[in-house]
Amino acid sequence: MASRLIQSRFSLSRLHLTAGNKNGRFLSTESNKVDEPFKVEEAETVNVPPPPSEKLLVLGGNGFVGSHICREALNRGLDVASLSRSGGSSLHDSWAKNVTWHKGNLLSSESWKEALDGVTSVISCIGGFGSNSYMYKINGTANINAIRAAAEKGVKRFVYISAADFGVANYLLKGYYEGKRAAETELLTKFPYGGVILRPGFIHGTRSVGSIKLPLGVIGSPLEMVLQHAKPLNQIPLVGPLFTPPVNVTAVAKVAVRAATDPVFPPGIVDVYGIQRYNQQMSR
Ligand SMILES: NC(=O)c1ccc[n+]([C@@H]2O[C@H](COP(=O)([O-])OP(=O)(O)OC[C@H]3O[C@@H](n4cnc5c(N)ncnc54)[C@H](OP(=O)(O)O)[C@@H]3O)[C@@H](O)[C@H]2O)c1
Repeated sequence: MASRLIQSRFSLSRLHLTAGNKNGRFLSTESNKVDEPFKVEEAETVNVPPPPSEKLLVLGGNGFVGSHICREALNRGLDVASLSRSGGSSLHDSWAKNVTWHKGNLLSSESWKEALDGVTSVISCIGGFGSNSYMYKINGTANINAIRAAAEKGVKRFVYISAADFGVANYLLKGYYEGKRAAETELLTKFPYGGVILRPGFIHGTRSVGSIKLPLGVIGSPLEMVLQHAKPLNQIPLVGPLFTPPVNVTAVAKVAVRAATDPVFPPGIVDVYGIQRYNQQMSR
């Protein structure tokens, strides 16, 4: 009973403080204010401003990583939109109905920029493989276009899903890595305070291909368990990066959404060990 009394006094003082703030008069929580009788009529007329609205745009929200990011952001109560070339999601899951789907190609025309209107943060999952020149365009140029447009539109935070170095494999996928690093440089220049780069290695989880669900975790999970304790191997020149532990797609999604919405999340590069650490902190 005593604790109930304390609780009700606490909420009365908070109500009083809110009403006072509105009139610009009461900024103290003096005990005599708490003891004043509670007037319901006054409390009802207080105009409480709506909570600040966060609108997240996921570039590539219909892809493997992007779809998990959309779902995580919806679970956190955010207003979520996606932009991709195919627009509407091919995903049949019920959460997909709560995403606003925009259609646009980051490598052509300017019309896709409208999707950035009113957006407070962006997470880019745009990337892919092909010839070296295609890989540079999709991993680099497309993201650089998005970063520049977002900065022009006053977006506060921008998270880019990049990739860890793969040592010798970097030479075989030159366009992929050069594109990734060019986009990273642009992000750190245009978003020095709100730009975050996630560099996962292999990402495992359930990937939807049409109506088929591919359980990539069957290989990824055990590998992650083993390799997360083998960090020194990662330092071996050239082949070391091949020992980078895989990471679960839900961990990447959680950390990406947090980085996009938490104003005190530090800007800069988060490697795979950082992704695992942030994910563990958030799961506690
Ligand atoms: N999967 C992994 O193991 C892994 C590991 C490390 C890093 N990454 C990085 O993580 C990111 C996401 O990977 P993912 O596996 O989720 O790839 P994904 O499934 O292929 O998704 C790529 C997304 O980009 C969209 N897209 C491609 N080109 C576009 C363009 N020009 N304009 C607009 N949208 C475009 C695609 O949608 P449309 O086809 O409809 O346009 C799709 O939604 C990539 O940057 C990748 O390099 C992935």
